[in-house]
Amino acid sequence: MSIPKTIREYRSQGDHHTNLKLQESPLSGPKANEVLVKIHAASLQYRDLMVSKGRYPGQKKDVVPCSDMAGEIAAVGQDVTGWKVGDRVCANFALDHIHGDVNHDIQQTGLGGQIDGVLREYINVPVHSLVRVPDHLSYEEGSTLPCAALTAYNALLGPTPLKGGDFVLVLGTGGVSIFGLQLAVASGATVIATSSSDEKLEIAKKLGAHHVINYNTTPDWDDVVLKITEGKGVDHVIEVGGPGTIQKCIKAVRYAGWIHIIGFVAQGQGDLPIRAAIGKALIFRGIQIGSVKQFEDMNRLIKAHQIHPVVDTVFPFEKAIEAYSYLESQKHVGKVVIKISKD
Ligand SMILES: NC(=O)c1ccc[n+]([C@@H]2O[C@H](COP(=O)([O-])OP(=O)(O)OC[C@H]3O[C@@H](n4cnc5c(N)ncnc54)[C@H](OP(=O)(O)O)[C@@H]3O)[C@@H](O)[C@H]2O)c1
Repeated sequence: MSIPKTIREYRSQGDHHTNLKLQESPLSGPKANEVLVKIHAASLQYRDLMVSKGRYPGQKKDVVPCSDMAGEIAAVGQDVTGWKVGDRVCANFALDHIHGDVNHDIQQTGLGGQIDGVLREYINVPVHSLVRVPDHLSYEEGSTLPCAALTAYNALLGPTPLKGGDFVLVLGTGGVSIFGLQLAVASGATVIATSSSDEKLEIAKKLGAHHVINYNTTPDWDDVVLKITEGKGVDHVIEVGGPGTIQKCIKAVRYAGWIHIIGFVAQGQGDLPIRAAIGKALIFRGIQIGSVKQFEDMNRLIKAHQIHPVVDTVFPFEKAIEAYSYLESQKHVGKVVIKISKD
């Protein structure tokens, strides 16, 4: 494989995604314990919109944005063993989160936030961050795994894995929630999905959601969740809404159920109802994506069930700004992907 001397990369000006700047930069080879990856595809997250506006905590100035990619190894450092040119790989979201709990130092290795990310043609990554792309997935599909999928996996199958027959509630049909749906169905749970749109809910049903609720036409969707669960409430909530949804989630979860605190896509304000939380003996767990070890475990499940990530639209590298705008419009279901290499 011939390796170029320069590459194209985007840099964020930290004001708006429409001002992402495409530029050329020199490419250096991998250090002794790194591999050089030729990036085939990257996928977008809600977080990338925050970074593009300069609103992500601790973000690097002029950062190369985006955390999630899949590509092939183009060169290996002199001390690397176990990996070879041509291997299909992802890098973990936080490069140094190998196993166990996240900590401050690990957080400083978050791609496309604290350090330069993957919206570029090649990247050098430490070998300890690498995870193989499952064989049945394309590069576009593989590029969706590091953040959204692993976050949902860590929530539902992390330290306290769900049990077959558990009820799982997923909010909306964005990246994290759709992976939550797919992983929960594959693990034997009964899934309740909400969305702003009946068309999107049809897709959720095709993916295996057992019950669907339009939260626009059914504003009291928490009552419907209670009805579906015969008054008991769900065992797990993938809470991506934040202040706008947390009160309803507390109502919709069972006594001593898990609320996985992940994001804040919903408009609205609200404090955590402490009394209700204590009264129902709830378990709140903040999620910070996941580790390489969890990524490998997740890929085992994805392979066993031949799960295909839901890729809504693929944009060419030159149209990355349009991809961001499309993500921001919230018209998508699942993931928005940017194809980077031409082959
Ligand atoms: N903590 C972590 O480790 C972690 C990791 C990844 C993401 N996150 C966070 O999780 C959140 C989701 O990220 P993402 O990348 O999956 O986002 P995304 O793909 O952009 O999903 C956005 C979707 O959220 C849904 N939504 C909007 N308002 C809603 C509401 N009021 N109730 C329910 N659903 C609503 C919409 O789907 P419908 O039109 O179907 O309703 C929308 O398309 C973000 O806040 C992100 O920062 C956190």
